[in-house]
Amino acid sequence: MLDVLLFSLISGFTLYLVIITMPQPPDLFMVVIFLMLLIPTIVALIQGAPFVPTPMNAAKKMIKIAGVKKNDNVVDIGCGDGRLVYIAANDYKAKAVGFELSPIVWCIARIRKLFWRSKAKIKFGDFRLFDLSKTDYIVCYMLPETLKKFIPKFEKELKKGAKIISYAFYIADWAPVHIEPSDPKESISEIMVYEIGKQYNK
Ligand SMILES: C[S@@+](CC[C@H](N)C(=O)[O-])C[C@H]1O[C@@H](n2cnc3c(N)ncnc32)[C@H](O)[C@@H]1O
Repeated sequence: MLDVLLFSLISGFTLYLVIITMPQPPDLFMVVIFLMLLIPTIVALIQGAPFVPTPMNAAKKMIKIAGVKKNDNVVDIGCGDGRLVYIAANDYKAKAVGFELSPIVWCIARIRKLFWRSKAKIKFGDFRLFDLSKTDYIVCYMLPETLKKFIPKFEKELKKGAKIISYAFYIADWAPVHIEPSDPKESISEIMVYEIGKQYNK
């Protein structure tokens, strides 16, 4: 919650500085645009998933240990700058889609897509509005309390055998089918692999 307050204060103060240093007061249009960018970003923060990218070497490891193959459907449920879906699409020829709730972060992902020359899709919005029934692999880096809220959707929509690869955080009391140990030398945290149908096998 502290990061949300801090972010709101810094953003509000920045807006204030921008307004008072302008030769003329900003028109309503500019303020509305600014708020439209800011509010969803704060919503993402409140939901417990601020934009913190998975380290690149960890992102590569996640896709590798998942066992992603050509034409598999890979979804990042909060894709940040898109790195996980770009790796899946570029290096493994997967059909990869990333969802991003924050418009600012979504713009960053779209720009980075050009540099990656990737065929991965980056969609703006809350992934919960999209159907996951064709998904083979979910990749995610989200806090445990956030992941817990997604369990009903995962259980309702994901097919048996679909895998969820979670960086650093466990999904409630689910049992991972594989835990990739952390690698402090490489600054990589644990990576958990869950399989639908086996999440309660303890
Ligand atoms: C910790 S970052 C991880 C980014 C990326 N997956 C990575 O590993 O580098 C989590 C991202 O998820 C986004 N997010 C949070 N909840 C979301 C939701 N319900 N739908 C889509 N994106 C969401 C946030 O805006 C944030 O950018």
